[in-house]
Amino acid sequence: MKVLIIGSGGREHALAWKIKQSSKLKKLYCAPGNGGMATIAECVDIKAEDINGLVQFVKKKKIDLTVVGPEAPLVAGIVDAFEEEELMVFGPDAFASKLEGSKIFAKEFMDRWGIPTADFRAFDDVEEARDFLHQVLFPVVIKADGLAAGKGVMICENLDQALEALDQIMKEKVFKEAGNRIIVEECLVGEEASILAISDGENYCILDSSQDHKRIFDDDVGPNTGGMGAYSPAPVVTEELLREIELRVIEPTILGMHQEGHPFKGVLYAGLMMTSEGPQVLEFNVRFGDPEAQAVIPRLKNDLLEVMVAACEGRLDEMGLIWDPRSCVSVVMSSGGYPGEYEVGKKIEGLDLVVAEEDTVVFHAGTKFEGDDVVTSGGRVLGVTSLGEGLETAIERAYTAVEKIKFDRCFFRRDIGAKALRRMAGVRRT
Ligand code: AMP
Ligand code: GLY
Repeated sequence: MKVLIIGSGGREHALAWKIKQSSKLKKLYCAPGNGGMATIAECVDIKAEDINGLVQFVKKKKIDLTVVGPEAPLVAGIVDAFEEEELMVFGPDAFASKLEGSKIFAKEFMDRWGIPTADFRAFDDVEEARDFLHQVLFPVVIKADGLAAGKGVMICENLDQALEALDQIMKEKVFKEAGNRIIVEECLVGEEASILAISDGENYCILDSSQDHKRIFDDDVGPNTGGMGAYSPAPVVTEELLREIELRVIEPTILGMHQEGHPFKGVLYAGLMMTSEGPQVLEFNVRFGDPEAQAVIPRLKNDLLEVMVAACEGRLDEMGLIWDPRSCVSVVMSSGGYPGEYEVGKKIEGLDLVVAEEDTVVFHAGTKFEGDDVVTSGGRVLGVTSLGEGLETAIERAYTAVEKIKFDRCFFRRDIGAKALRRMAGVRRT
């Protein structure tokens, strides 16, 4: 098969790396790809948002399957455009993508189907929202309705912070039209985890659990980022909790979308808070998580290409996912200054020292080739990923590799996976 992967992050490199191992693969393209993907696939300079350009490319090259990594093209309707041309594509259509593209749509959908989530109110009028904020108990969470690259969520401890957040989103329009509507949501307390499922619209397979590290600094301090590291499995998700999440979240979502006439095909990602009252949905995404994919995909023993084709053809009931029992940890190395301003174009050294390591793979995100050098080109630069018998070994391996890689002003968290180790040792912060 000829396959195209759309996107340029660590998640897409992990997808490319996995699909590259398929015996069914003949040729792999990535658009636009990155420095890492360029070493295993042919990268073409078409942006993920250029839907028409991508359709034309796929038709010209007679590509059999297109895999969409990021959310923006999904929400913009790339799957609808491909299906109109009868091209096979892995991902949900524009309607189903509203589960991520509109937080209000997702909350109302969860209400209709009894899926556990925080209480909320939606507003399109800034004055009404302001009046409401004068009546609530704090903390609350204010969210822009639309896509905001993971930055549209503000946790507000008091009225001043909430009014400031409201002004930023609805008046200053820091997230542009994504902030035309907002939700004000109850603030949940607990540990977070991500549960992903692959669906063909009717059948689904659950992926093993994972946990992201969203804050920039150790101990979950500082501003939110796209994700500074992940590990899988996440011990916070016990067998019993996983079953509950499956029955109360994943199954009703797949069933609900189907019954409402918009079957969900692709990856359904539930971001969850494990509260004292059970798991609650914080958000839905409609694609693999980044960096969760980097920690989950290396543990999948199946041929991912086969699974994706089965999902596109409505044959997922023929598949059972098999997992490597080892733990996997992915540590993100970022450009100093991220998630604020940072410099790019820094030469990355030491990658060759890690390639030789057993059970370790470096997924590239913001990298590109400049001549023979690999240089930084984004905020999150690399996801250094290791498998190990047990989480502790995986963590040790990943950080041993991280220490070998150098670039100017490189930054990474030193505590990826530490929370899970504490949990396994029986220590928990309440
Ligand atoms: P989201 O984009 O909705 O996942 O939100 C990003 C992050 O904000 C989540 O991973 C949580 O850490 C936090 N968050 C979102 N909603 C809530 C909530 N209702 N209560 C507490 N934290 C939240
Ligand atoms: N890791 C969070 C996300 O992919 O949205």
